[in-house]
Amino acid sequence: MSRHSKMVNLLFVGALVLTLFGSDVGGLGVNWGTKSSHQLPPETVVQMLKDNGLKKVKLFDADPAVLNALADTDIEVMVGVANVELDAMTVKHKAEKWVKDNVVKYVENEVKITSVAVGNEPFLKDYKDTYINSTLPALQNIQKALDDAKLGDKIKASVPFNGDVYMSPPWRPLPSAGLFRPDVSDQVEDIADFLAKNNAPFIVNIYPFLSLAMGGGGFPMDYAFFDGADVITDGNVEYTNVFDANYDTCVSALKQIGHGNMTIVIGEIGWPTDGNKWANNSLASRFYNGFLPRLAANKGTPLHPGYIEVYLFGLLDEDAKSILPGDFERHWGIFDYAGQPKFDTSLGGKDNKTLVGAKNVKYQSKKWCILKPHEAHDIHKQNDGMKYACDRADCTAFADGGSCSGLIDCDKASYAFNSFFQVSNQSKASCDFGGLATQVDEDPSKGQCKFNIQIKPYDPSKPDSDSDSDSEAPSPSSFSSSHFTVAPPLALIGLALWVMTLLIFF
Ligand SMILES: *[C@@H]1O[C@H](CO)[C@@H](O)[C@H](O)[C@H]1NC(C)=O
Ligand SMILES: *[C@@H]1O[C@H](CO)[C@@H](O)[C@H](O)[C@H]1NC(C)=O
Ligand SMILES: *[C@@H]1O[C@H](CO)[C@@H](O)[C@H](O)[C@H]1NC(C)=O
Ligand SMILES: *[C@@H]1O[C@H](CO)[C@@H](O)[C@H](O)[C@H]1NC(C)=O
Ligand SMILES: *[C@@H]1O[C@H](CO)[C@@H](O)[C@H](O)[C@H]1NC(C)=O
Repeated sequence: MSRHSKMVNLLFVGALVLTLFGSDVGGLGVNWGTKSSHQLPPETVVQMLKDNGLKKVKLFDADPAVLNALADTDIEVMVGVANVELDAMTVKHKAEKWVKDNVVKYVENEVKITSVAVGNEPFLKDYKDTYINSTLPALQNIQKALDDAKLGDKIKASVPFNGDVYMSPPWRPLPSAGLFRPDVSDQVEDIADFLAKNNAPFIVNIYPFLSLAMGGGGFPMDYAFFDGADVITDGNVEYTNVFDANYDTCVSALKQIGHGNMTIVIGEIGWPTDGNKWANNSLASRFYNGFLPRLAANKGTPLHPGYIEVYLFGLLDEDAKSILPGDFERHWGIFDYAGQPKFDTSLGGKDNKTLVGAKNVKYQSKKWCILKPHEAHDIHKQNDGMKYACDRADCTAFADGGSCSGLIDCDKASYAFNSFFQVSNQSKASCDFGGLATQVDEDPSKGQCKFNIQIKPYDPSKPDSDSDSDSEAPSPSSFSSSHFTVAPPLALIGLALWVMTLLIFF
């Protein structure tokens, strides 16, 4: 099809969509993170977004493979400047180059970029003042570069904040008393002024899960959901859930600095399913099945009735995410690592669809790696092997209350060995562990503790490389087997631990 007739078709379809749906700019968004050992092909993920009626996607960077897969779709895209890039963005020409390489180029290639996230939670308490002076100049330079490229009307830069930038004072713990955290309030105010001038939204991430899981037992459980009986009275408003209360605290904090009317977008919200005693499929389903229908009905909050733009966190599980905040970090997906739904919910909207999983997913072979059964093992060697595997693969399901927390020790070793084997593309050498491990072709899963098979590795430089038919594991000769030998790295770990111990004690 010629470019011209394609244009005409697009215009026609565009007009039809406008006629059918009026000027509805609503719709649900989702965060698409890519910190996984094995990624689904971006084309597969984009099809999943379409199948689930997701209209907006938020990225944490500007990955070319992901952006190219979003070309020629109606999906609105928020690209991200990473925190580590903020310093560079305070230099004008570097911000211009960033916009040219990561925005202009893709807009020309029919990617519907509508916003740029400058940093990700840069004022998070844990970061102290690392990004305190670079965030606003970076934001200004990015927006200026967008304006100079004549994209400023359509593409807005903003900063996704963590909900910890605002609070209610202890002496009046109510949403209407909301104010910005004293150590960042000056900077947030300047940023809000700049956003208001540009008609850009204020973006916050709100996590009822963290309120519950980090609440130290003092947080009333039902208040994290949308079907509970707990009520907090604030003047003549009754709050029945922490989301409404949290959102309205932000509304009040903005009002305090003269921006009571500013649009607030939820940059992240969701519920994890493993790695914590409050993280499982049934609680996640309870959360989403309370939250999503309210969104679809444009219920809003007491201080902000109506539509709220929301990006769920997240689309997929990410098994290589940092677990510094907690073991649940790798389990935020509505869909698992392979794009399959974890629980029943409807992403709402007009179509009221139930979740549609990724199609044509290519898994590795049906084989697993376990601790050799019916043998007595040196328990130290077994534990060392397990630690080695868990450090390199993913054992977060062992966390207190996690799906594999109830396993006996030898099953835990098997789980860890398998996790490492799968992450290592099922290479023969990765199922050895000094002779302790063996491959099996029957699923060793134990109850709710699933021993996964990884998907086939996706190579962004060769988008079709996963189309070869059979799922034969890579031959040992294609890998340096010494790379996978357990013994020497274990010795190194031992050394590293010893050095760390020295550092801590002296
Ligand atoms: C940020 O800027 C202020 C004012 O110039 C300065 O006092 C402060 O030390 C700076 N903080 C950092 C972390 O650079
Ligand atoms: C906020 O919005 C309301 C309703 O749209 C309007 O009446 C009011 O004047 C606005 N206030 C400010 C400060 O812009
Ligand atoms: C999910 O977690 C809650 C809280 O720990 C627990 O009461 C419930 O039994 C769990 N559900 C399942 C299916 O594991
Ligand atoms: C959405 O679909 C579910 C399952 O098909 C159904 O139970 C529910 O009533 C529907 N909701 C609306 C608002 O149509
Ligand atoms: C798995 O295979 C992919 C693609 O061949 C490769 O990039 C990756 O490094 C492999 N992973 C391991 C741990 O060998």
